[in-house]
Amino acid sequence: MARRRKLYEGKAKVLYEGPEPGTLIQYFKDDATAFNNEKQGTITGKGVLNNRISEHLMTKLAEIGIPTHFVRRLNMREQLVREVEIIPVEIVVRNVAAGSIAKRFGIEEGTVLPRSIIEYYYKSDELGDPMVAEEHITAFGWATTQDIDDIIALSLRVNDFLTGLFIGVGLRLVDFKLEFGRYYTEDTLQIVLADEISPDNCRLWDVETNEKLDKDRFRRDLGGEREAYQEVARRLGVLPEAGPMDLKGPKAIQ
Ligand SMILES: Nc1ncnc2c1ncn2[C@@H]1O[C@H](COP(=O)(O)OP(=O)(O)O)[C@@H](O)[C@H]1O
Ligand SMILES: [Mg+2]
Repeated sequence: MARRRKLYEGKAKVLYEGPEPGTLIQYFKDDATAFNNEKQGTITGKGVLNNRISEHLMTKLAEIGIPTHFVRRLNMREQLVREVEIIPVEIVVRNVAAGSIAKRFGIEEGTVLPRSIIEYYYKSDELGDPMVAEEHITAFGWATTQDIDDIIALSLRVNDFLTGLFIGVGLRLVDFKLEFGRYYTEDTLQIVLADEISPDNCRLWDVETNEKLDKDRFRRDLGGEREAYQEVARRLGVLPEAGPMDLKGPKAIQ
């Protein structure tokens, strides 16, 4: 089997050239990082679980008309996606105070926010993903006002839908991060949801116990991160039957 061309290796995923032009393969790793790469580790089986969880959530979102990059899952750790031009702004939607917003404004973690709040962070590892305002986004040309309007509308729909979906399985969607990209066809440009939606970039708390079932277990050294990711997959009904085997990806046939 010919080895595919690796295009990019990020913190949690590897991007390979896809089988057709305009497609990419996202390979989900077990690597975990936090605090802008200061803390590094691995969560065995995370890649397998995030591949399934993101597939499930992107598919459900597509069913309600949210355009996404997801095409299909290829195997335990890989999915085929449409290649987009990533808008270098991370969109954070918050429903409940946790993490940086709790710290920045001195709000007790767990406080329900008066309404859902959208924040923007410039996607730059070197700069540590600084928080930015709409003014910076348009002035520096990262996105237009029209792009931002689309992104806000889509993000709020994603928030409404996922909040309900997670409540249905006993999980509170505290906050989450999204990435969007530009998808060009012959004569149209569409803003589509890209990257992944998983416990790596959502805060999910059990509604009864407030137990954290997301990457905060890793960030805060709470332990049990693999079990937490597995529990999210189990509740969503996508836990791989064989278990989250630590497959290294497709093997060449000898
Ligand atoms: N459909 C897509 N087309 C092009 N790039 C994408 C797409 N979906 C996600 N990406 C990019 O691929 C990378 C995924 O790898 P990841 O490990 O998350 O990287 P990072 O360390 O940059 O966060 C991200 O930089 C993300 O912006
Ligand atoms: Mg990433």
